[in-house]
Amino acid sequence: MTHDDTMEKLISLAKRRGFIYQGSEIYGGLAGTYDYGPLGTALKNNIKNLWWRKFVNGRDDMYGMDAAILMNARVWETTGHVAGFADPLVECTKCKKRFRADQLEDRTKCPECGSVLGPERQFNMMLSTRVGAMEDSSSVSYLRPETAQGMFVNFKNVIDSFHPKMPFGLGQIGKAFRNEITPRDFIFRLRELEQMEIEYFVRPNDWERAFEEWRVAMGEWLDLVGINRAITHEVEIDPADLAHYSKRTIDFEFEYPFGQKELYGLAYRTDFDLASHAKASSVDLAYLEEDGTRFVPHVIEPSFGVDRTILAVLLSAYTEDELGGSPRTYLKFHPRVAPIKAAVFPLLKNKPELVAKAREIYLTLKKEIPQVAWDDNGNVGKRYRRQDEVGTPFCITVDFDTLGENAELKDTVTIRDRDTGEQKRVSVSELTNLIKTAIL
Ligand code: GAP
Repeated sequence: MTHDDTMEKLISLAKRRGFIYQGSEIYGGLAGTYDYGPLGTALKNNIKNLWWRKFVNGRDDMYGMDAAILMNARVWETTGHVAGFADPLVECTKCKKRFRADQLEDRTKCPECGSVLGPERQFNMMLSTRVGAMEDSSSVSYLRPETAQGMFVNFKNVIDSFHPKMPFGLGQIGKAFRNEITPRDFIFRLRELEQMEIEYFVRPNDWERAFEEWRVAMGEWLDLVGINRAITHEVEIDPADLAHYSKRTIDFEFEYPFGQKELYGLAYRTDFDLASHAKASSVDLAYLEEDGTRFVPHVIEPSFGVDRTILAVLLSAYTEDELGGSPRTYLKFHPRVAPIKAAVFPLLKNKPELVAKAREIYLTLKKEIPQVAWDDNGNVGKRYRRQDEVGTPFCITVDFDTLGENAELKDTVTIRDRDTGEQKRVSVSELTNLIKTAIL
């Protein structure tokens, strides 16, 4: 199997089984946008909830935020985005197709039609819009290209409301927009994306310790969501290639089938953002210590793309093997992220007493674990394959023994493990705990 095959198969599975669809598909799509279907949404919500639990609710030095996507244009003038958030662009002199110059092997020849490429120029990736009824330059606003600034501009508000002790951080999950020259590789490079970001404020001479702590925490996160660590690499960014706001950055890169590329970033942003906003807005953004010391905090920023997390989770989970002598494709999700935690089946769907008992067990489970599914389509073998393909870790079958045909087995069911295909009999009363323990 070639690497290209994996992406094709994954994209096809994602569409067929309701994880991810091309955006606006019935109108021919809109490049750089994808829509999450029912199972993709469940997967995404599980990932975002885990992130919030680990990095916001699970800590006492973190505060959650949900800032507006539209911000005063001065924010982006101050950060340098309006002037410099750009990628190098080249245009074909004949077919007029546009490419990112740094992604071309030959910067002189059009990869589509072979004609001469025009000169390289900087293309700004900010997506602009107009806010309000006036059609002049004062109405221009931008869809944020990162969630980060929503936290920097609220730094003083949070200090005034909560008086946090140093160090502390803000965390936020939300959409960001970038007019990428060449969106590509499924949900890897999007124009509408989602980020989970942390701005962690520290005393200036404390940044190295905080950077190291967050590096370790980001590694733990990979394990928590089931991203294969063996194919994830921490890459120290060369000082010459650092973003204008950063003094040190580590990229977490993942071996995607289309190459080893960025998954997440961990950046030391110094006091660049707070100091720049303080200067431009004339609002004092210094922190006052109990002993009267004042300083502008420095910032460590762990930044996680939601969509790239989903791609890395899907690729880490995608498995082809043979079970019971026949080939199968399945998603080996950690039960924590699996969109469906367990599926409940009646052994036969034309036996009302089996269906009634299975339904009762299903509804009891669903009260405690909402991500439980009902499946009575086709035979049990087919249901197993279908659930394997969407990564359901457990299948529960209600049979005649459950009803008491064999008195010793009354009120027991079979529970099948997705990865091994092994089935064991457990008591109905144990089911909730068994699944809850697995998804912790
Ligand atoms: N606040 C810092 C920041 O935005 P970034 O490296 O430009 O840094 C952070 O983006 C993360 O957002 C990336 O590591 C990646 O996971 C995700 N990301 C960035 N651009 C993306 C795009 N066009 N499509 C999908 N995800 C993207």
